Amino acid sequence: MPYTTPKIPQKRLHLPAFAQNSLNNLPLNKLCDFADWQDDSFRLLAAQILGTDGSAPYHRKLWEFTQLVRALKENGLLSLDYLGLSVGAGFERVLYYLANQCGRIIASDLYGDSAFAAGEASRSVLEDPARHAPYPYRQEALSAVYMNGCALGFPDSSFDFAFCLSSLEHFGGLENAAVCVREMARVVRPGGIVFFTTECSLNGFVTDEVFKPAEIEYLLTGSSLTLCEPFNWSLSGETLNYLIDMRKDDLSSLPHINLKLFASIFTSISVAARKEGNQPRCLNIEALDSLVEKFRSIPTQRDAVNRKTLSQRAIKKLLVLKWRTEDLLCSLLA
Ligand SMILES: C[S@@+](CC[C@H](N)C(=O)[O-])C[C@H]1O[C@@H](n2cnc3c(N)ncnc32)[C@H](O)[C@@H]1O
Repeated sequence: MPYTTPKIPQKRLHLPAFAQNSLNNLPLNKLCDFADWQDDSFRLLAAQILGTDGSAPYHRKLWEFTQLVRALKENGLLSLDYLGLSVGAGFERVLYYLANQCGRIIASDLYGDSAFAAGEASRSVLEDPARHAPYPYRQEALSAVYMNGCALGFPDSSFDFAFCLSSLEHFGGLENAAVCVREMARVVRPGGIVFFTTECSLNGFVTDEVFKPAEIEYLLTGSSLTLCEPFNWSLSGETLNYLIDMRKDDLSSLPHINLKLFASIFTSISVAARKEGNQPRCLNIEALDSLVEKFRSIPTQRDAVNRKTLSQRAIKKLLVLKWRTEDLLCSLLA
């Protein structure tokens, strides 16, 4: 249900003036924008990933998948020769698309042991990823392992690419998210690609699961990664007309592009970066398969990483109070 963005005071505006995207030259490092769907090749690829009748709904989740596949395609990594790792993978649909395109895709997550255990990070993914397959796929090419994204068990340079979609913001703050980006960079070979999407504030207000634009760049510090291209912060004016208030609106309504939680208005940002240098992987497919087999045979130990202590819960309550107050003040000032 589209409606006009409410007049929310800009706490700290990091974004330059909004401008129309160049349709035939869609950047990789950008905010999710309604206008991106006007690109024919974008829509076609999105529909292929979705595996439907050719429709590509205006949903930022599908946008994230499409941006990932574009980044891999543009870097020549979509072939059976290449191995990829997904971190905080859940049962995201793009895993199955990539399993049909790449040598191996390893899905890693705290399966059965995170706030998402009843949904996308259920143990059933670990036991049998095929149970969640949206369409036929190369079953030998996709395996799931229980693994903390901040302490990946793979040796350096194991993969050609690693990615993390809509998960970094759930890892317990900026520093943990940056550790995960460094871990992805470590397990990718020099010359390989790290790609992630996360939540980026459009109006300077944040909650604990939304980053400011400057923090997105901070996530790459100390990682030996270089952005594939500079960030393009432009957004079409049209995109700002669509906003879903997470506390009031139907979350399944489309277009699902910009979200509002308390005073924070945010959307997805995609980031593609290359690891400096150029070297082959340290693992071939057989070695990766046996390593994954080894990880899968170890009984999963419940990881304390996502468990909240009493003081963390108290801090969260205070934060919620702060966000409510900000929201109230914003609506009074609007
Ligand atoms: C919003 S879901 C996204 C799932 C999937 N990437 C997608 O796009 O559908 C966030 C995921 O991050 C996972 N997660 C949270 N903390 C994690 C951690 N420390 N290590 C690995 N995964 C984690 C959750 O279990 C969950 O599956």
